[in-house]
Amino acid sequence: MKQRTRLKFLAIMGVEVWVPRDRYSVIESELRNDNVPLGALAKERYVADNDDLNWQILTDNVTDCRRCAICQNRVQALVGEGNSHADLMFIGGAPDETEDQLGGPFVGQSGQLLTEMIRAMGWAREQVYLTNIIKCKIPEGRDPAPSEVNECLVYLEQQIKLVQPKMILAVGEVAAKALLATDSPLSQLSGKIHYRNEIPLVAILHPAYLLRQPLEKRKTWLDLQVVLNCLKNGVN
Ligand code: URA
Repeated sequence: MKQRTRLKFLAIMGVEVWVPRDRYSVIESELRNDNVPLGALAKERYVADNDDLNWQILTDNVTDCRRCAICQNRVQALVGEGNSHADLMFIGGAPDETEDQLGGPFVGQSGQLLTEMIRAMGWAREQVYLTNIIKCKIPEGRDPAPSEVNECLVYLEQQIKLVQPKMILAVGEVAAKALLATDSPLSQLSGKIHYRNEIPLVAILHPAYLLRQPLEKRKTWLDLQVVLNCLKNGVN
């Protein structure tokens, strides 16, 4: 069967078709001319093992990602932002509407509070690295399914390898559960130091929750003190 007919067949059946990145636009316009739905067409991903891992490859892979159905819901996928060699990495759950529109993690209302929290720790936002477990906006802001988390964790693992943070801050329950591979609620996870592949990790309440429950900010401030102390003096 001719390559073009085969691709057409697979795309019509909704089977995801990976095509070489350098031939993507030619194939896309051929299928478009034939009125074939393009939903299943995807650029071949670079293989990024530890040796050739770099930010450009990672960014391209995230930007073009179609590993799960959430991609259909996004304006854009968000890689992350900030100091790519930061000591501290903030990892949230998923971008929401504002982040999806503006193209940066934690730039909405809860992001503003998080930025204030970072400042209160003595840093500018640009000095830390901010990202999410899930790189695309999730429909109706629901929690991600375990399969969606698994697909996206591939990228986060690569980011962590590139940034090499001294510490990770899991922002909110979705991030804490995914990073620690647990079903335990945040109430049991916050207030102590965990480890993820030997990197110390502290889980804090999500700033969106703190906006609704400002009295809980004190608890979070204590968690942030633990982080600061740990960065300064190491983990006891
Ligand atoms: N915006 C993000 O980027 N992440 C969250 O977890 C919430 C809002």
